Amino acid sequence: MPYGPPYKNPALRFPQGNIPTGKTAWRSPSNIALIKYWGKKPVQIPRNPSISFTLQNAYSETEVSYLPARGGRLEIEFYFEGERNPKFEEKTAKFFESVADIFPFVDQLKFVIRSRNTFPHSAGIASSASGMSVLALVLCDLEWMHFGTLQNRDDFLRKVSYVARLGSGSASRSVYGGVVVWGESKEIPGSSDLYGFPVNGEIHDIFKTYKDTILLVDDGEKKVSSRAGHSLMESNPFAGERFRQAHRNLAALLKAMRSGDTETFIRITESEALTLHAMMMTSLPYYLLMKPNTLQIIEKIIAYRKKTGLPVSFTLDAGPNVHMLYPSALKEKVRQFIQNELISFLNPPGFIEDEVGKGPEKIL
Ligand code: PMV
Repeated sequence: MPYGPPYKNPALRFPQGNIPTGKTAWRSPSNIALIKYWGKKPVQIPRNPSISFTLQNAYSETEVSYLPARGGRLEIEFYFEGERNPKFEEKTAKFFESVADIFPFVDQLKFVIRSRNTFPHSAGIASSASGMSVLALVLCDLEWMHFGTLQNRDDFLRKVSYVARLGSGSASRSVYGGVVVWGESKEIPGSSDLYGFPVNGEIHDIFKTYKDTILLVDDGEKKVSSRAGHSLMESNPFAGERFRQAHRNLAALLKAMRSGDTETFIRITESEALTLHAMMMTSLPYYLLMKPNTLQIIEKIIAYRKKTGLPVSFTLDAGPNVHMLYPSALKEKVRQFIQNELISFLNPPGFIEDEVGKGPEKIL
């Protein structure tokens, strides 16, 4: 069977009277983009390619029990951190319905989902990346277990990434460990707008064990969702140049990551972070997600780098928290730096120490 995008497969239905009962569980990480995805066209096609570090410690862990649905229609019960969560229930139902032509068996099942995150939900860490990729893993796992398709690991992960993308663009990159590109780039044969593509073979060792300490500045709800932010790019007057810049930055960043050039890595990734927020500030309506302490921390990091000559840098996601990036050899020095100079700008629990991770894992 030819098996590739768009993965529509009407054969994936259980015979009546033979609908299975079972359980599976997966852990899937979040990721931090170095070249940012900001702007998309239907359906979940990025306006520019992006690249990220998959994280290790910030992940969602999700156990899914399934049984025959009673009324012949999709049923979902979602427990988040032990409590029934109607918002996640609705979000998951919408997502499952949206992929019903890829997994025609979804409306034959009732799903009882128990999920938790290892990071505070409000920490502004991309929970949609871990949360959506874990659901895509579960759906492909059901297909693998019950229909005998996706037996090849590469085929399996590619479909997971394709499906995760439909839930949240950045989730497509969480499906692989290490350094992952999503979005077609002339520089990277194999890259695609439809799924993530790992580029670990080409990356210098220094970046394979890079650290990301997430400095928690504010735990408030985001004022503007990523979905709204992406759509505001359609009328942003700087959008066209931004998309071209992302292509150039990706090519230059990959070159730096192949050769271990931390100076270029810092220049491009910091510029990407500020450009992402500049796009928010130049959208209409305009908005700000950085807080005063975000700027304080950024200035401290730049001053520390100048003073010590150490390759410590920052990036930002769509929120006020600062991701501090550095080679693993600097771990102790950076801990000291946080204690001495940053701690007073942080909100409890302060910070989360993370690093480049290995990717998802089946835990049941
Ligand atoms: O995956 P979404 O739709 O939540 O968008 C995420 C966009 C950023 O996190 C800001 C950047 C990125 O590439 O992850």
